[in-house]
Amino acid sequence: MGHVIAVSGKGGVGKTTLCGLLIQYLCESGKRPVLAVDADANANLNEVLGVEPEITLGELREEIERAGVDPRYQIPSGMTKQAYLEMRLSDAIAEEDDYDLMVMGRTQGQGCYCFVNGLVQTQVQKLQSHYPYIVVDNEAGMEHISRGILPMMEVAILVSDCSRRGVQAAGRIAKLMKELNFKPQKTGLIVNRVPDGKLDAGTLEEIRNQGLELLGVVPHDDQVYQYDCDGKPIIRLPKDSPVRSALGEIVKKLGLDTIEEIFEKVFFDVEDNEYTEKEVKDCFQLLLRIVSTGLGYISYD
Ligand SMILES: Nc1ncnc2c1ncn2[C@@H]1O[C@H](COP(=O)(O)OP(=O)(O)O)[C@@H](O)[C@H]1O
Ligand SMILES: [Mg+2]
Repeated sequence: MGHVIAVSGKGGVGKTTLCGLLIQYLCESGKRPVLAVDADANANLNEVLGVEPEITLGELREEIERAGVDPRYQIPSGMTKQAYLEMRLSDAIAEEDDYDLMVMGRTQGQGCYCFVNGLVQTQVQKLQSHYPYIVVDNEAGMEHISRGILPMMEVAILVSDCSRRGVQAAGRIAKLMKELNFKPQKTGLIVNRVPDGKLDAGTLEEIRNQGLELLGVVPHDDQVYQYDCDGKPIIRLPKDSPVRSALGEIVKKLGLDTIEEIFEKVFFDVEDNEYTEKEVKDCFQLLLRIVSTGLGYISYD
């Protein structure tokens, strides 16, 4: 099962920017394929990543709703709307080398949000076993949280700027998640756009007031802002960008290791190992197969 990492917080604090860099970090550290989910109706994670999705889940929903009414949209005869939707869902996943991107997008009309929200939720559940990591960029505010978009999230990253209001919004989201009985294994705050990377005493006080765990700070960097203004994907920031390094350090501390990595560490940390690397790897593959059967043993047929 993949780790679901959800990123939430007030609008404009840098959720999408950090999501893009997080996805890139995971891919570059071999934790691929990543499923990137843009769960913001006002989708823009694709811009940060520099990809163009073929169709969003919202557009797909529109297309199906209009079939039969608008001659431009057709469902093959003999096929139900549901079956057609199932068939087209794979088109709503843009495939890149190291990650895939699924965009919720928006729909017109009232009441449709629940549908696309539900679709995101079921899709993430369905796809969870195919990806070691799923990163979800949420929309600002609390509504999507209260709709219970991601009860299965394992890591809840809250993002704020240095403002007390930003930290308070993060605190409210954390409380709401508790009330809704979401049980992420880890919930923590990243403060973004921090001048010179140094947190003000007032911001720190508010973080304490809200009872939030501070995962780390990411400095304000004019280059990030400039990339945005120039329409350049943020993931093309130079390797030594302070924003990139700060986020990398935070993610490292989160310890998002896969089972494979944990096994690998266990084996390779043993000193004076008298086995060859191949023997250890074979043994580790065998263990993995045993674990994955869930039976505690494997058969060789
Ligand atoms: N560390 C940073 N330094 C400078 N600008 C940043 C930083 N993080 C985000 N930004 C800028 O802040 C704006 C909002 O970021 P965005 O990621 O879209 O926020 P959100 O997804 O929370 O609404 C963008 O213009 C982005 O380039
Ligand atoms: Mg955003």
